[in-house]
Amino acid sequence: MSINLGRHRTSCRRSPRRSERARLEMAPVSVRSVLISESVDPCCRQILEGHGIRVTEKANLSREELMGEMKNHDGLVVRSATKVTADIINAAGNLKIIGRAGTGVDNVDVDAATKKGIIVMNTPSGNTISAAELTCALLMSLSRHVPQAAMSMRAGNWDRKKFMGAELYGKVLGIIGLGRIGKEVATRMQSFGMKTIGYDPITPPEVSAGWGVEQMSLEQLWPQCDYITVHTPLMPSTAGLLGDATFAKCKRGVKVVNCARGGIIDEAALFRALESGQCGGAGLDVFVEEPPKDRSLVNHPNVISCPHLGASTKEAQARCGQDIALQIVDMVKGKGLVGAVNAQVLVSAFSPESHQWIKLGEAIGAVLQSCTISKQPFSQVQITTRGDCLKHSTGYIASAVMVGLLTSGSSGCPNLVNALALAKESGVKVNQHHDQSEGAVHGLCDVEISVNGSSYKASGSVQAGVPVLLELSGNVFRQPVSLSGNLLFIRASASPQLLPSLTGLLAAAGVEMESFSAPAARAGDLWYCVGLSALLQDLGALKPLVKEAAQLAI
Ligand code: NAD
Ligand code: MLT
Repeated sequence: MSINLGRHRTSCRRSPRRSERARLEMAPVSVRSVLISESVDPCCRQILEGHGIRVTEKANLSREELMGEMKNHDGLVVRSATKVTADIINAAGNLKIIGRAGTGVDNVDVDAATKKGIIVMNTPSGNTISAAELTCALLMSLSRHVPQAAMSMRAGNWDRKKFMGAELYGKVLGIIGLGRIGKEVATRMQSFGMKTIGYDPITPPEVSAGWGVEQMSLEQLWPQCDYITVHTPLMPSTAGLLGDATFAKCKRGVKVVNCARGGIIDEAALFRALESGQCGGAGLDVFVEEPPKDRSLVNHPNVISCPHLGASTKEAQARCGQDIALQIVDMVKGKGLVGAVNAQVLVSAFSPESHQWIKLGEAIGAVLQSCTISKQPFSQVQITTRGDCLKHSTGYIASAVMVGLLTSGSSGCPNLVNALALAKESGVKVNQHHDQSEGAVHGLCDVEISVNGSSYKASGSVQAGVPVLLELSGNVFRQPVSLSGNLLFIRASASPQLLPSLTGLLAAAGVEMESFSAPAARAGDLWYCVGLSALLQDLGALKPLVKEAAQLAI
């Protein structure tokens, strides 16, 4: 007989956690107060306030001031100037959402936010047209030297020879990154008669061919281009995409544009190529350091530069401000999750039907956590969903199971955003799988955990809108067990005396038995589930009767 008092202590700690788990459910997420730390279109504030969210606008905060402010808000809205670093994220007491009114989230430490269970959201299409138009403006300016000619006029000159240009018509434009902006640049520059070729590892060639861009390898692309424009995110595979080695493969005099992120074109290599004439001109909206302290590129006669103006139009700012506010409001109302960059799994968790499956996942995880507490840590978790209705739900159900398994453990404060990341950090291997095989008409969720060489399994479902447990470690219950209230799980020898003896022990402890669920098997050591009016103060009272016991409040 082993009744682990640690399990009892944990179980007792679970009681107040009922409300905590409810708070952790992601749909809807409660956001009462938002800090806007930069100049964002006023419609953002209006929309948020119109939906009852308090808004504080404070621009140009120092790092320390921002850390201090973070304690007072559930949401933060930024553009690109606020650096939302790990220390700022970790200083936030209750932060649930970081909203980026714009595309790139490189000013936000997304990993740190994910570990903290904070959703990071952007507005990826609000400034696409503006950034594409600026790219086209730079391409045209490079071909006709418009800014240089304007400056020369202002200086009192009339120099027609110096600014001899070249037509774009018939020239080849290489577009690296064929996403939203790359596509818009392509179709606009085609209207000037440019031939558009490109490269993107994700966008299929037949898709880009549909908007007139022939895809090819970078090796094939470099030597063909008269102009090259980059429209990728900045990441290890794109940093220095254009550098000494690649400039050398280009046509002499190639002109380049970067309206994406500083560093995709290596700045030092660009300067060398401009000096040697290998590069005939550059249009730069973005820099590795903004504003750039090193002015050698900005001051170069063949460079046309802008202070990161791609999204600086009234229309783009209004769209981004409006989009981020509406996305936050929709999330708060549980209508949907749009634009989340670190919580893709939650996108499908916002349908009303998903709520009970999330509760089921958390409850199964909590049951297994309670029943194995003396044997932990667990090392491996296998989560399998079955049934057509769950074919797109495995991700969020797996996260919910991990919330149940990790809550009350030592790993942070798990929620649907961070549960898988916390599991990984603690060395727990989580496998998730949807079983397509025919037969499972209704949705089912099976969870198996490996603890210290033994394996524990629980299966559940949602029946008539209620999460139920069907099986625990090989014991199939005669009736599905409703996973709510105060539940006591015991492993005991099957005997006709079990029920009356247990009733007596519970009565002596001042607790009423509200339900008793027995497995279909009738012999051997079996798991039973007992509904209680209150959790027991001391599981030791059951010692004479049971081999294992665990209790929890759901
Ligand atoms: P997007 O996600 O729609 O497109 C990016 C594309 O790059 C994707 O299709 C992706 O497959 C592709 N890509 C990824 N790695 C690549 C690689 N190694 N080589 C080639 N292609 C690769 O993004 P978007 O909205 O088009 O934005 C593009 C860039 O523009 C981003 O860096 C964004 O931050 C930046 N941006 C800048 C401004 C500005 O003010 N200058 C405004 C908006 C966006
Ligand atoms: C973006 O990524 O959206 C742009 O860089 C524009 C901005 O600065 O917000």
